Order: sequence, then structure tokens, then C-alpha cells
Amino acid sequence: MEIIIKMIKRFIPLQILLIRREYLNRKWENYFKGKKIATIFEEIYRNRLWDDEKKLEFSSGRGSHEEYVVDKYVENIKKYFGKGPRLNAVDLGCGDFYVGKKIRPLFNNYIACDIVGKIIEYNKIKFKDDNVDFRRLDLSEDEIPQGEVLLVRQVLQHLDNHTILKFVENLKRTSFKYLVLTEHIPKGEFIPNVDKTTGFGIRLGHKEEKSGVVLTKSPFNFRPKNEEILCEALQMDGLVRTILYYLE
Ligand SMILES: C[S@@+](CC[C@H](N)C(=O)[O-])C[C@H]1O[C@@H](n2cnc3c(N)ncnc32)[C@H](O)[C@@H]1O
Repeated sequence: MEIIIKMIKRFIPLQILLIRREYLNRKWENYFKGKKIATIFEEIYRNRLWDDEKKLEFSSGRGSHEEYVVDKYVENIKKYFGKGPRLNAVDLGCGDFYVGKKIRPLFNNYIACDIVGKIIEYNKIKFKDDNVDFRRLDLSEDEIPQGEVLLVRQVLQHLDNHTILKFVENLKRTSFKYLVLTEHIPKGEFIPNVDKTTGFGIRLGHKEEKSGVVLTKSPFNFRPKNEEILCEALQMDGLVRTILYYLE
């Protein structure tokens, strides 16, 4: 039965998936308006909003589990950080750690943080043999642990501009060498950083104004020393893009 449902889902036209996404975005954005960030993400996990199959204890969603998107990311992180001395990494918004587990061996110390306490407690048990320091932390408020490589994968896309701005300010108090930032953005030209409510959906999910987070553009105006696109993978009507920012 499960296989049949999977097959049917594979043939659902993209337009129908997009209409569903638009509907869910609106519904949950109205519901989450005005709630605290931690409460929002706790509720997303408790109600399994990112888990289409409603099977996993915790699921961080499609971008975290679609094999070709994840494989491309892992392959390129390996290419860049897999040679030479192992650096210390900090992973902010680590979620269910499906992706994190795959890249963890490429680094020396690995600190993985999330705003949802329950997922951190769950990860501590599930990944107890992976030598990861799991911590509960809000990237916009709390002190970010020190390291050389900062990984932020598909997190900012869920946050409103005010919270992202606080993260950019927080970043100024750190001394990382690299920021590896992954965002799901529209394909082709788009107006960056159109604001949204913190929550379930992303800026791509609004049909009248598809947008995405670009940290170097207004209002964030993040100023790295240099940057390069590490990898890109198509997903639905958008692009999951990973940028490597050189910070020193
Ligand atoms: C879509 S998931 C991505 C998970 C993981 N990075 C990945 O790529 O598979 C976004 C995660 O960011 C976390 N998050 C959201 N806001 C946060 C914040 N202010 N501080 C830390 N984590 C946050 C959420 O709880 C969620 O686990």
C-alpha cells in the first residue's frame, strides 16, 4: 500500500503540489503569527508538518531528505572540507540531523544546535555514537559557539527578516573562517528578502511574489570577504543553493 501511495505521489503534477503548498503556507502563517520562534518550531515538529508521510518521530522536511538534494550537498561539502586538516564545525538549526550525520566525519569537533529542545534531546540519544555536542540554542538571541566552519542549512528561509537581521548581528560577535549557507530560492530573477512570518513555509511559497533569502542584499547587507556557489539542486519550482562565504 505504502509503495502504491508513493508511486501516486510521484505522478501528482507540480501545479497541484504548488497549489497545496500555497494553501498550507497561508493556513499556517496565519496560525503562527505573533507566536514565539521556539513555540512555532516545537509545534511544527509536534504536528509533523514537514513530514508528508507522518511517520517519523521528527522530520525536518523534503529539503532534508530528498536524496539528490542531500547527496549534492554532502558531495560538495566533502570536496571542500574533506581534504586537509579537519576543522571545527558549528551547525545551527540542525533539525533531525539526517544531513548533519552524513557530513559529521569530515570535521573535528561538531556542535549541532537547534531552537527545539525536544529534537536536541532526541538527537543526543539517536546519534550518541557520532561524537556530536548537541545544544539547544536560538541563533538570533544566544551566544553562538566558536568554531571555524558555520553551517546554516535551510533555516533562515523559515524566519522573518527581523530575526535574520538579529542573526547577522549575532554573527559579528563570532570569528568563523567560513559560513556555509543553504537557502531554497526561486529559479531565475527574483526580488530578494521579501518579508514573511516565521514558520512552516518559505518565501518561495507565495505565488504573487516568489522570493528567497540573499544575505548580502538589503536589509541584511552581510559583507563577507568573498563568496562562491558551492552547489545547487533543483527542487519543486525552486533551487536549493549553497553558498560558501569567506569571512577572513
Ligand atoms: C527545515 S529545518 C533544516 C534542518 C537541517 N539544517 C537540514 O538541512 O536538514 C530548519 C531547522 O531550523 C530550526 N530553527 C528555526 N529557527 C531557529 C533559531 N532561531 N535558532 C536555531 N534553530 C532554529 C528549526 O527548529 C528546524 O529544526
